[in-house]
Amino acid sequence: MQREFWATRVGFVLAAIGSAIGLGNIWRFGYLVYKNGGGAFLIPYFVALFVAGISLLILEFALGHKFRGSAPQALRAINKKFEWVGWWAVIGGLIITTYYCVIIAWALVYFTKAFTLAWGAETKAYYFGQILQLSDSPWDFGGFAVGVLIATAIVWAINWLIDFRGVRKGIEIANMILMPLLWILAIILVIRALTLPGAIEGIEWYLKPDFSKLADYNIWLSAFGQIFFTLSLGMGIMIAYASYLPEKSDLANNAFIVALANCAFSFLVGFAVFGTLGYMAYTTGSEIGDVVTQSIGLAFVVFPQALNLLPALKVFTAVVFFLALVVAGLSSSISLVEAVVSAMMDRFGIERREAVNIVVGIGFLGSLPYTTKAGLYWLDIVDHFVNYYGLVLVGLLEVIAAAWFFNLGDIRSHINAVSEIKVSSWWDFSVKFAVPAILLILLAFDVYYNLKEPYGGYSIDALIAGFGIILAGMVVSALLSWRGKDVS
Ligand code: PFF
Repeated sequence: MQREFWATRVGFVLAAIGSAIGLGNIWRFGYLVYKNGGGAFLIPYFVALFVAGISLLILEFALGHKFRGSAPQALRAINKKFEWVGWWAVIGGLIITTYYCVIIAWALVYFTKAFTLAWGAETKAYYFGQILQLSDSPWDFGGFAVGVLIATAIVWAINWLIDFRGVRKGIEIANMILMPLLWILAIILVIRALTLPGAIEGIEWYLKPDFSKLADYNIWLSAFGQIFFTLSLGMGIMIAYASYLPEKSDLANNAFIVALANCAFSFLVGFAVFGTLGYMAYTTGSEIGDVVTQSIGLAFVVFPQALNLLPALKVFTAVVFFLALVVAGLSSSISLVEAVVSAMMDRFGIERREAVNIVVGIGFLGSLPYTTKAGLYWLDIVDHFVNYYGLVLVGLLEVIAAAWFFNLGDIRSHINAVSEIKVSSWWDFSVKFAVPAILLILLAFDVYYNLKEPYGGYSIDALIAGFGIILAGMVVSALLSWRGKDVS
């Protein structure tokens, strides 16, 4: 089967940036900065970016490009025994997509509600009661939250449509539209925030450096974890995207562009988030510490509250904010889906259309539990296990395979033959020693914390079920690598 190629370099770069910039950039980065020493956090963040993030991104680009294949294909090329690592990466990605799409669906529901600010004054009750219709416990499913179910079907349909159309006509064109749109939306939000009274205090909270915090190793762990997550590493995404690059394509320079654009976006959006929170604290006479929160609480509870309080342009700002979430989410979810699709095409020799139908079908079914009234509980549990164990462990296995079981010099010469920026021995050092050591430490701490205290106060059976999903992912990966065949 003829492999598709990106039509332009810009198309590839925008698609990779689209994958990297996601929900995490909007609701997690700013909070992490605020929580972990303000401006001082940028030090561990940039250290993490340069020591581990960019090296790993270059490695993933190189694996996809050199071996012309998705994660299972590329890891198989290193050694047949590693194919399952590649499968595990993309299956982990697929598990993430099942709930990531439901979060995009919530954003889509809120986007439609933004035109009338339908959430009213009690934003918390509205989100948990009206939208999620949250039940009392994880095992109390209570049927579907119908609005969320419909929105989830729409989100999957969009993913289907874009990936079905292929690399050039689907993913590339979508990102050529979505990325500029996303930056425009973000700039609008920043301008709106900075023109509000109290915004400057909010920004001060966001960036005021507290260097004493740098002595706390947790901050370093957070920085490395965030870099790994934000650059979409360890899920086979960047490997798949780079496999569609024509032969003479820059790798190192593109990796720098993608990584820096992603981090710049996070930094920029922090101004919108903290400016708005600063305004909210100012009008309600509260401390910033009382209004700031992260993740879904920020997007669906606190932000709607802040939007209610705006002196002008309420509806406009609300529409822009939720549209930005939807756009950021979609450009990431299509990349997560594509990582699996390209693996299926590579290893089972099936046509794109068939692969997309299968992956989207399974993905949509996998999303259904999160659209029930117990959905949020499961989302939280699965997110915890996949993110903490799945990704870091897969990333670790991936670098070990490439750096220790393959001639790294070969990969480096491949990169240097096509790249404007030449990578030197620092890269070897980073991939061979620094990255594995850091990932190992991250993993050890995660295991330690989890053993010390069961996550989130959930009952043990719910946590076992969460862990079971990871195990099931591993078994499926092993089966897939056993069933795969050489097709090219
Ligand atoms: N990098 C994107 C984000 O930060 O939202 C996409 C993504 C990465 C989504 C990793 C999910 C994930 F687990």
